[in-house]
Amino acid sequence: MSGSRSRTRGALLLIGLAAVALLVACSPTPSEGDQLGMWPPVGTGAQAVDRHWWTMFAIGAAVWAVVTAMLIATMVRRRREPKGDGRRGPLFVAVAGAIIPGVIVAGVMAQAVVVLQETNPLDDDGETVIEVTGHQFWWEVEYPEEGVVTANEVHIPTGQRVRLELTAEDVIHSLWVPQLGGKTDMVPGHANSMWLETDEPGMYWGQCAEYCGLQHAQMRFLVIAHEPEEYQSWLAHHSQPAESDIPAAAGAEPTEQEEMIAWGREVFMSSSCVYCHAVAGTEARGEFGPDLTHMASRETLGAGILPNNRGNLAAWIVDPQSIKPGNEMPGTNIDGPELQALLAYLESLE
Ligand code: CUA
Repeated sequence: MSGSRSRTRGALLLIGLAAVALLVACSPTPSEGDQLGMWPPVGTGAQAVDRHWWTMFAIGAAVWAVVTAMLIATMVRRRREPKGDGRRGPLFVAVAGAIIPGVIVAGVMAQAVVVLQETNPLDDDGETVIEVTGHQFWWEVEYPEEGVVTANEVHIPTGQRVRLELTAEDVIHSLWVPQLGGKTDMVPGHANSMWLETDEPGMYWGQCAEYCGLQHAQMRFLVIAHEPEEYQSWLAHHSQPAESDIPAAAGAEPTEQEEMIAWGREVFMSSSCVYCHAVAGTEARGEFGPDLTHMASRETLGAGILPNNRGNLAAWIVDPQSIKPGNEMPGTNIDGPELQALLAYLESLE
């Protein structure tokens, strides 16, 4: 008897340990420094998904606890009591095996329908529309009403629903911003749409979520949520070219920096850069690569993989293939002084 009791205790201990291990595995990772963590969810869509997930987890945990308790009770009872007459068996199977699970599944499905409504509402009044196009391996971002084109950063206003119109240039990509909402595929020749909405200003990492080639994992971007006034001034600034007249206005002697920028502009305009990149207000109108009109104001280079600073920019221009093998930008054969001038020009595009 004492042997069977200690076996029962051992089994309970094992089950307890398994439960703890399961809970530890499921616990949220700290989002500090974790670029793609989902917690804390701050977008309406992500919050709805989070709520749904916890509901399902709670139901799953409760079912597991009840079934485990019954299993243990059965193991303990079988040793002590004679078998019953089995008349209650069919009723128990019908209730516990069909009716209760049916009610649970129907409840979860009802909640899923509500969550789908919240994450993808059908009415589309008065929202901001932003067009995002997936390329191997970067994101083109357009504000059609304001004529703004940028790359690898989606700036949105807080407190209102933003509709993203999604498509792709080459292969299928998928846009995902874990803290704001679910994933939506970007398909060549087909427009998909999704919503982003948050009340929390901040920067949120996004990631391509559909395998699209060698640098799929390095196809990142940022969503930057601004207070509405700040968003309007960002939009106003970005709807104008960054270029000022270079060198300085007639009469004034250009500074050394201005001369450097003017030289760098010449380097840029006379090189192959202009076949792939556009800078609004200049003759550079290439559409193959990211628009560079305000490139110096962006946070990252190479679609979210490097902080945007002079050293990284120089490395990227000279040898982008060693940083992100398989991307579409070739290396640039350029001497030191010309590179410095080119950097000065690009850094002036704020
Ligand atoms: Cu684009 Cu994966």
